[in-house]
Amino acid sequence: MAEDMHPHKYKKIVVLVSGGGTNLQALIDAQKRGELGNGRITCVISSKPDAYALVRAKNNSIPTRVIQRKAFPDTAAYSAAMLEAFYEEYADLIVQAGFMTILDETICRAYPNKMMNVHPALIPSFCGKGYYGLHVHEAALEKGVKVTGATVHFVTEVCDGGPIILQKAVAVKQDDTPETLQKRVMEEAEWKILPQAVRLFCEGKLKVRGSKVYIKE
Ligand code: GAR
Repeated sequence: MAEDMHPHKYKKIVVLVSGGGTNLQALIDAQKRGELGNGRITCVISSKPDAYALVRAKNNSIPTRVIQRKAFPDTAAYSAAMLEAFYEEYADLIVQAGFMTILDETICRAYPNKMMNVHPALIPSFCGKGYYGLHVHEAALEKGVKVTGATVHFVTEVCDGGPIILQKAVAVKQDDTPETLQKRVMEEAEWKILPQAVRLFCEGKLKVRGSKVYIKE
């Protein structure tokens, strides 16, 4: 409602990180090229104080917050603190970009189809509990798949189970290690589809019906 009354207002994007932040960098670069539509990264929240992603944010004058899991007694208290930060930031979209800490269902209920995550595999392969970071690529190589990739999806209560927004496939090479595969999946897939998904969201082109996302032309 408020959006319709202020059509020129930009969408505030809060990015959640825990590590290197190369996906955050891809978003920052896309924003600089004018490729996030009317989206602006207005805050980066890290679960780790030493995450390099925080340096990337600071280098680009983006406000940062650190909310560490260990500062809270349980997941519920941690999630409540996160939620408060989202409200304070007036977040329109929350993007999990290599965010490795578990949040509870209060978050996705408060931001239905307004929170997205990038996962380094073609969901429903190699996803769910325990599948994060390099582990995902280890599992793909262990299985011997010839194709893997990345997925951007909306976050629901089901871990890695929300409506799929975009996917991109990447070939696996015979001599890949988890590290070389991770690098190629990032370069060829994650860094491309995450900014694209954010742009589509900010342009109001993503419609969720049931468990599926439809992209308006
Ligand atoms: C990325 O590959 C991202 O897809 C993955 O962690 C990496 C973070 O890299 N996320 C998950 O595994 C979440 N389940 P980055 O900090 O350089 O963006």
